[in-house]
Amino acid sequence: MLYPFIKPLLFRLEPETAHNLTIEMAKLSPVIGKLTGQPIDSRLSLKVGSVNWTFPIGLAAGLDKNAEALTFMGHQGFGAIECGTVTLKPQLGNPRPRMFRYPDEQSLRNAMGFPNQGLLEILPRLRAYGGATPLGVNIGKNKDTTAEESIEELSLLLETMEEAAQYFVINVSSPNTPGLRALQEKTYLSELFTELNKVRNGKDLYLKIAPDLDQNKIVELTHLAQEYKLTGIIATNTTIMPDRGVGGVSGVLLREKSREVRKIILKESTNLELIAVGGITDPQDLFNLWKDGGKVAQVYTAYVYQGPDLLKKFHQELVNFVKKQNMTLEKFFELPLSERQYRL
Ligand SMILES: Cc1cc2nc3c(=O)[nH]c(=O)nc-3n(C[C@H](O)[C@H](O)[C@H](O)COP(=O)(O)O)c2cc1C
Repeated sequence: MLYPFIKPLLFRLEPETAHNLTIEMAKLSPVIGKLTGQPIDSRLSLKVGSVNWTFPIGLAAGLDKNAEALTFMGHQGFGAIECGTVTLKPQLGNPRPRMFRYPDEQSLRNAMGFPNQGLLEILPRLRAYGGATPLGVNIGKNKDTTAEESIEELSLLLETMEEAAQYFVINVSSPNTPGLRALQEKTYLSELFTELNKVRNGKDLYLKIAPDLDQNKIVELTHLAQEYKLTGIIATNTTIMPDRGVGGVSGVLLREKSREVRKIILKESTNLELIAVGGITDPQDLFNLWKDGGKVAQVYTAYVYQGPDLLKKFHQELVNFVKKQNMTLEKFFELPLSERQYRL
């Protein structure tokens, strides 16, 4: 209700300025988050790994990089909130401008480069968070850290924050840190997962992958995640579209590519969880994911364009869905894929 009035004002500002203003407002006034948000409905909760998502749509990484607006985002009705990417040391990221809008295509392009306040600033906020919505933390290496050093760095990040969140995500798929995507290599990841498994203390752990990988690589990473007993894969990060400029593109322009990557992962029929992200814009995208064999999704760009109405729309569709199915979502997902009927 409020967002249609605020959005034209925000969209008149430079995208990152609008983003920062939104985070400031969310930080100062969690109550606005509640007034414009959707209440938790137990029929719509779902177990993902060992975490109880309160709703099948979570907040993707990168929007609340510094974990400043967790309570607000929980009140909005997201089913899980992923903050970060958090790095060990604070860093400024790439020079501005580094966020661009494509309103006609409901898409964004960003070349942020992990600007964030670093582990020591962010950790107390994670510890102070007491909301009902589960919390995930997305971690990455600092820009000037080498591949060899990054294993120790990521282990330290995970070990230090382990008790303060419900799940963790390794981000080796951002196009905005030079050389980062090269870390999607098998030898590097095998070593990394071995070290992370020593410190994760049973905590859920995901690998977030890029949409710009070929099919063999996607299959290889899926098997690797399975072999090292990760909880699952988050697919996908933003896509490179050099004709648009530097950075990674998200939103509707990414939708089909991202879905194809997810289909490859889901076809491998492992016991991994899949968190879908990339172009999830309408309830139909979630239903398509379910038909492909997936369960939960995250959003970033669609939330920028639609605001709290996005969650309202999903909430209404999902309440209708469980009513028509006459069972909770948790029960629905206990059915084998072949026995699920989509009474929409
Ligand atoms: C401005 C911006 C910043 C982002 N920052 C991060 C980040 O720090 N870490 C990360 O893993 N993903 C980051 N992402 C990627 C999103 O989490 C998500 O994977 C991607 O945008 C695709 O989802 P969408 O189409 O719903 O936006 C960022 C995306 C945007 C648009």
